[in-house]
Amino acid sequence: MTHEFENLDIIEIEQEILSTKDEAELFQVEKKYLSKEDGVLSKRLSSLGKMNPEQRKLMGRMLNNLKVQLDEALEKKRKFLIDQKILTKMNSGRIDVSAPANFNLYCEQPGYIHLLNKTIQELWQILDSEEFMVFEGQDIEDDMHNFTYLNTPENHPARSMQDSIYIDKNTISNEIKNDTNIFHSDEFLLRTHTSPQQIRISKKILQHVKKNFKKDTSFDSSQLNFKFASIGRTYRNDSDSTHSPMFHQMEVVAIGKHIYVRDLMSMLAKLMKKFFANDDLQIRIRPSYFPFTQPSWEVDLFLPQTNSWVEVLGSGMIHPKVLSNMGLNDKTIRGYAFGAGIERLCMLKYGINDLRSLYGNDPIWLSKQAMKASI
Ligand code: PHE
Repeated sequence: MTHEFENLDIIEIEQEILSTKDEAELFQVEKKYLSKEDGVLSKRLSSLGKMNPEQRKLMGRMLNNLKVQLDEALEKKRKFLIDQKILTKMNSGRIDVSAPANFNLYCEQPGYIHLLNKTIQELWQILDSEEFMVFEGQDIEDDMHNFTYLNTPENHPARSMQDSIYIDKNTISNEIKNDTNIFHSDEFLLRTHTSPQQIRISKKILQHVKKNFKKDTSFDSSQLNFKFASIGRTYRNDSDSTHSPMFHQMEVVAIGKHIYVRDLMSMLAKLMKKFFANDDLQIRIRPSYFPFTQPSWEVDLFLPQTNSWVEVLGSGMIHPKVLSNMGLNDKTIRGYAFGAGIERLCMLKYGINDLRSLYGNDPIWLSKQAMKASI
């Protein structure tokens, strides 16, 4: 094994990096060593698993050191190339300070999609292929939809100013805040989850179905059967390496006469397996509590890289009170709902440690991630 490592010489690699003339060439070198599929160093790192513990420890340390040095050299060269480009540009004539920012100055490779948008697109497509109607929904909610209709009691902590971001009602135009089709109270906040969509969309679908029902037949709710999802921005008063005050959630809902726990479990497993492109993904459920579902479960995924379970979503059978708030009082109608944080899914899939980097707007970091994800 050791001889394989010997031909990976950091001095030679650094030379290779130094001799690159532009970002495209630099990307090629990066790809050669770090590409997930066939990068020379990535392959070595993944072969560690086959070694005996002693060898693994030694080689692991050496390879990781090498990776750190390689990353540093790449970063240094990338910065150098950008500085050089800016200098050339500056020397080449007058700079029009009123011109719009030239993003191409930083990233010359073709455009790419932000990882978060890519994650949203991927989930959207999977949901679409499973015949869910997908909606975005509104960012500003009232406390009725965000809490009350979702069976969240008056004294629930999420209702407090500490956890949620409320909006001064004087900043909302009268026309909007008095529109009773949209708002049912005058306590406004940025939605803390996508769950209010459960109420809004179900009500809309019901209205639509009732309107289209033949005049001479009475509406029979037992025929109802619909499913939808919502993906969009959500907000909480939280900020650290795994929380951002603005983040994204996905809400998945199915309602009908024959909706059971097994449908919930099979759909969420299917979705996660498709999203992570891994049929063998291990999924664990734990009993939990949400005011709007009963019973409720938390769902974890197993991460072989860290040999640990990580929580990804909340789920449950829709609480009868919530169904009733949607206008569904027929006891034979049931539904499931589950909700997941998009950033968490994105970070797990693309190996990102600090959520804040997704919002950092650092073109170098973003283009590097895009390259890794082959966008
Ligand atoms: N809205 C919950 C949250 O933000 C997640 C959830 C959605 C739980 C749907 C159950 C059903 O944590």
